[in-house]
Amino acid sequence: MKFATSLVLASAVSLATAHGFVKRITIDGKSYGGPEPGSDDNSPSIIRKIQDTNPVKDPSSAEITCGRNAQKAQLSAPVRPGSQLQLFWDGGDGTPWPHEAGPILNYMANCNGDCANFDPATANFFKISEQGRPGGENGPWFLANLLTGAPANLTIPNDLAPGNYILRHELLALHLAEKEGGAEYYPSCSQVTVQGKGSNAAPTPTAKFPGAYSPTDPGILNKHVFDDGFQYKFPGPPVAQFATQGGIGSSNSTSSVPAPRPAPTQPSQPSGPGNQSGNGNGRGGDPDSEENSRRSCRLKKAEGKSHDKRDGQDHVTPRMRRVAKKRSSEFTPPTQN
Ligand SMILES: *[C@@H]1O[C@H](CO)[C@@H](O)[C@H](O)[C@H]1NC(C)=O
Ligand SMILES: *[C@@H]1O[C@H](CO)[C@@H](O)[C@H](O)[C@H]1NC(C)=O
Ligand SMILES: *[C@@H]1O[C@H](CO)[C@@H](O)[C@H](O)[C@H]1NC(C)=O
Repeated sequence: MKFATSLVLASAVSLATAHGFVKRITIDGKSYGGPEPGSDDNSPSIIRKIQDTNPVKDPSSAEITCGRNAQKAQLSAPVRPGSQLQLFWDGGDGTPWPHEAGPILNYMANCNGDCANFDPATANFFKISEQGRPGGENGPWFLANLLTGAPANLTIPNDLAPGNYILRHELLALHLAEKEGGAEYYPSCSQVTVQGKGSNAAPTPTAKFPGAYSPTDPGILNKHVFDDGFQYKFPGPPVAQFATQGGIGSSNSTSSVPAPRPAPTQPSQPSGPGNQSGNGNGRGGDPDSEENSRRSCRLKKAEGKSHDKRDGQDHVTPRMRRVAKKRSSEFTPPTQN
């Protein structure tokens, strides 16, 4: 009986705090597991261990680099330009990732040596891809695909020079993004060794984490996240330039884009969902939150999706938002050691 009771308690606790972490990565079909957050598992891995599945809430904190109290990892996985990666998220209690709104962003930085001892706090990260909504201004986000347990996908850029790199994969959950400090960052770092004959050893532009994001960026703080026709402006630098982009452009998932990319000041996909060049279309201005909430309900209804598998934070009625916010503010981060 004691055993059963503590089981119930344990699962109640994990349900209350579960958000997510990268549990496993496949690279061209080969699978690499990672440590459970906060576990004693120190077996060699390519995935840097984090403390728990809760989000980073402050983009100026050291945790924005690789996640909450991220540890170094001992291994590095071989990849080549064009390698296909699938990153599998877990809610922390065996359930899928729970949040449906927000972008998926992928960055890399050269470790200039072995990544196992590399501190990425001052690294020059370049963005390799970003994914918003496959349908452009309306409909679900790529992020929603993770609710079913499907992985996030990325491709190593075709032109990337050989070397040891940190891969910084990030989910940015925006369900609370209408308030400053509401956005939830879930960065995850892994270590890869790029092989092959790529020639681009210094992709630009680069940014640092912390440093790349401000809490008031329109892609981070925005009242219109759930509006129909909301044009999302990705935070961080534009996707870096490569002679041939390895798969993902500004916002799409898997198609190859073999043509040279134009300069970052000229959007290559003006009608695409991403608009990585950022033409100020975040529309962060007018405060009409009641109308916003009504619209978000209509949007949800139009999508006709089941909310069964989601936690309260992704329901978007005003009441549920209040509950979600309350819940979120109840969370006290464990002290770090
Ligand atoms: C990644 O690719 C798989 C297979 O094509 C797909 O099912 C999944 O939805 C993709 N993930 C995202 C986040 O779009
Ligand atoms: C890319 O996005 C466009 C719409 O923006 C869509 O028509 C196309 O099918 C997408 N391609 C892939 C491979 O997802
Ligand atoms: C992208 O920006 C261009 C202007 O630079 C604009 O005409 C277009 O409507 C924008 N599209 C999206 C999806 O934001």
